[in-house]
Amino acid sequence: MDGTFAKQKGADAPFYLAQGDEVALFEAAAAQDLPVLLKGPTGCGKTRFVAHMAARLNRPLYTVACHDDLSAADLIGRYLLKGGETVWVDGPLTRAVREGAICYLDEVVEARKDVTVVLHPLTDDRRILPIDRTGEELHAAPGFMLVASYNPGYQNILKTLKPSTRQRFVAMEFDFPKPEAETRIVAEESGLSEAKVAPLVRLAGKLRALKGQDLEEGVSTRLVVYAATLIAGGMDIERAISAAMIEPLTDEADIKRGLHDLVTAIYG
Ligand SMILES: Nc1ncnc2c1ncn2[C@@H]1O[C@H](COP(=O)(O)OP(=O)(O)OP(=O)(O)O)[C@@H](O)[C@H]1O
Ligand SMILES: [Mg+2]
Repeated sequence: MDGTFAKQKGADAPFYLAQGDEVALFEAAAAQDLPVLLKGPTGCGKTRFVAHMAARLNRPLYTVACHDDLSAADLIGRYLLKGGETVWVDGPLTRAVREGAICYLDEVVEARKDVTVVLHPLTDDRRILPIDRTGEELHAAPGFMLVASYNPGYQNILKTLKPSTRQRFVAMEFDFPKPEAETRIVAEESGLSEAKVAPLVRLAGKLRALKGQDLEEGVSTRLVVYAATLIAGGMDIERAISAAMIEPLTDEADIKRGLHDLVTAIYG
């Protein structure tokens, strides 16, 4: 299809450092066939968590990046012409329903109404997926689980889920890891020593404190990993911080200067 989804087999779990009881909560939801909604800022570990949990539960994972062009057919499937014949091709959601896999809808608020409506009969106790085009009504195989995520603070406050959609999910709130945890995560991901990661994490904390004033969003764990990775690769610390932790946050020269002052305060 069009590359908006990727499948991953549940083999060795990617590294994920838990922040609280999210692993147990997800496992409980999975055991009871309940859908899960993950809320949290960009780059705080939601996608990594889902990949980790899919591997732990040994279920295949289908990830769909939602956007406003994504149609119900992109999720469910469509008739395609193959060698002169018309054949039905399942979309990622249908495959997950048939196989008992996890279907992960990333940035679900971006999806159109016709897409969210498709999810309704799947996310209550019916667990069915009606496929109008083929006349089939699929019952979700054991193991099928719907997981969705979104960033509540993200730009458009008009883009929120309808109550009838959001009240079908067990919801979990994610946030940036605490400093000790973030230091471990960034060291693990980048290969840079914890001693050298610690000041980057301190800087991240200061940058996050500016959210809502000078900055729209605080710096993500993802960006701290980028900075550490560049430093581990031999880049000068200030250059790496500028490229990975300051430039991505703002375009305004005077705000950038203020952010560089924070770097000087930490590194001297
Ligand atoms: N708890 C964690 N354990 C391991 N790695 C983490 C954790 N939290 C964040 N990371 C690191 O941060 C990176 C970004 O996390 P991830 O891609 O999961 O963010 P996200 O919440 O899905 O962001 P977005 O909303 O932008 O999709 C990961 O690739 C990983 O390196
Ligand atoms: Mg993500």
